[in-house]
Amino acid sequence: MNHLLSIEELSAEELIGLLDAAAELKAERGSHTRKPLAGQTWAMIFTKSSTRTRVSFEVGIRELGGSPMFLSKNDIQLGRGEPIIDTARVLGRMVHGAVIRTYAQQDIVDFSRYSGIPTINALTDDEHPCQILADLLTIREKLGGWEGKRIAWVGDGFSNMTISWMWAAKKLGFEFAVACPLQYAPTEAFLEKIDAPNISVTAHPAEAVTGAHVINTDVWLSMGQEDQAEKEAAFGPYQVNDELLADAATGHIVLHCLPAYRGKEITEETLEAHADTIFQQAENRLHAQKAVLAALAG
Ligand code: CP
Ligand code: NVA
Repeated sequence: MNHLLSIEELSAEELIGLLDAAAELKAERGSHTRKPLAGQTWAMIFTKSSTRTRVSFEVGIRELGGSPMFLSKNDIQLGRGEPIIDTARVLGRMVHGAVIRTYAQQDIVDFSRYSGIPTINALTDDEHPCQILADLLTIREKLGGWEGKRIAWVGDGFSNMTISWMWAAKKLGFEFAVACPLQYAPTEAFLEKIDAPNISVTAHPAEAVTGAHVINTDVWLSMGQEDQAEKEAAFGPYQVNDELLADAATGHIVLHCLPAYRGKEITEETLEAHADTIFQQAENRLHAQKAVLAALAG
């Protein structure tokens, strides 16, 4: 593994290897004898807001012995139009790795090629691989694994989160049931490309959630879509609430990558009833990303 650009590019073995390493790093947190990033500086280029990703990477890099360098787009010439391939060639000569949150997936692909240094996708419009690693770790901790489990997604059917989840379903084989307004569903072209019979799409949330062991949601409007009021208006029936969860499997868990908008994709009561899991999921970002950093540190 030279980069983490997507779940699409990971094999099942790599995914499971990262989760095993994350669990080990979590168990040994505090003792930290391994410092695979000793002497390294990692750039963190963010062109979108972040709480969890930024903090977990800064802490994770430090805990593994390295130094993080946070570069928001307005602090560097990228924000004034310097091409990503030039930014990549400069940083590639100075730092040891890069964590990038931005819009176009192609930008991080280009960065990885032109910089020649390990590059991690910290969220693009197409994928959020670090989040999915943390989510899978949480499912393993809470439910013992995903074998034989039904994982439902209620909300935007074709976002960075759903795309990464669908690739995880393809690689790991669990049932993944998406409920979304059909105009925001995975495209036919995508479904044909991924070719995964274990993925289903419905316009009816109750159908996806019935018998589900994991119920997952996210914001209706992803970063960069804040002004799309007509999109938001389509999601009214796609709220995760106690009524919707009535037919979920016994012992089900609710996941939300956060930030959450109460009263929109999830109710206050449902979020607070599942807060233990949801904030464990947020904490697991740190452990999962330390596993990625350690794997890429070389
Ligand atoms: N879930 C997630 O990526 O959170 P942030 O946007 O706060 O980093
Ligand atoms: N789909 C959301 C995820 C936020 C962590 C977004 O892109 O804004």
